Amino acid sequence: MSETSSPAGTRLELCAIDDVAPGSALKVEAGDLTLAVFNVDGTFYVTDDQCTHGPGSLSEGFLDDCVIECDFHQGQFDVRTGEPVLAPCTVPVRTYPVTLENEKVYITV
Ligand code: FES
Repeated sequence: MSETSSPAGTRLELCAIDDVAPGSALKVEAGDLTLAVFNVDGTFYVTDDQCTHGPGSLSEGFLDDCVIECDFHQGQFDVRTGEPVLAPCTVPVRTYPVTLENEKVYITV
């Protein structure tokens, strides 16, 4: 894992692209963050792993297209925006800008 800083923010290396199969998610710890990396048909999205509703881990949920269902109470979020799309989730989950480079997934924080 690597970390570089610039005026635009700190770039964190999360994983290899191949670590996350299409339609799946991976939990990654980077810096002091615990994140969920989603591969939606080759497009990558990253959110906080912790569900905003409770103790659920979004990387352990069920990904259907761009919607992740938390496996704790079955609330749902759009991984593109972090917006809740199904109760009981009402608070958006944080999302991060993703870049892909050299077969790796990075975010800027
Ligand atoms: S903890 Fe995720 S829906 Fe309740």
